[in-house]
Amino acid sequence: MNYKVIISEDEIRERVKELGKEISSDFSDKKVILTGVLKGAYIFMSDLSRAVTIPHSIDFMAVSSYGSSTTSSGVVRILKDFDFPITNKHIILVEDIIDSGLTLKYLVNLLKSRSPASLSVCALLDKKSKHPGESLADYVGFEIPDKFVVGYGLDYDQYYRNLPYIAYLENIKG
Ligand code: IMP
Ligand code: MG
Repeated sequence: MNYKVIISEDEIRERVKELGKEISSDFSDKKVILTGVLKGAYIFMSDLSRAVTIPHSIDFMAVSSYGSSTTSSGVVRILKDFDFPITNKHIILVEDIIDSGLTLKYLVNLLKSRSPASLSVCALLDKKSKHPGESLADYVGFEIPDKFVVGYGLDYDQYYRNLPYIAYLENIKG
């Protein structure tokens, strides 16, 4: 399979540092729970957590969306939930990528119903053209075109997650 690097390791490192600074200043007086959405966010989450300089705890959710390997259906199965109740907590959901936004909208609705003190979303990548006019994340690493990408946690059929950069796979329709 051919792939082309679109965001380098250095660019990711710099941007993650900036996101960490932004989050740290926005939540300087709050106790936040950085919550990675598995599996795609596992690498972003570990780098972002180290870039956030305020004390914080972490948790993970694991979700699986019904659909093919490259498109989601919006029907989400929760494979792992928070370890503790999130009522009155400041939650920052850490996502790998927003494509149609269906997965994220489902999660946000679910979590809002549990009355957190606040709920923010930090996504490494956003395919803005797939959900025009809707701003779904409070923090976005990079806006990218509507192409199927892999690396830095993102997979194609569970592979390529370990690539240290973001690349797009040619011949895959996103
Ligand atoms: P959405 O529900 O369409 O926004 O899809 C979100 C989920 O689909 C992400 O959390 C990824 O797991 C997966 N996904 C969407 N686009 C891509 C991509 O370009 N590469 C790898 N996974 C993707
Ligand atoms: Mg995936």
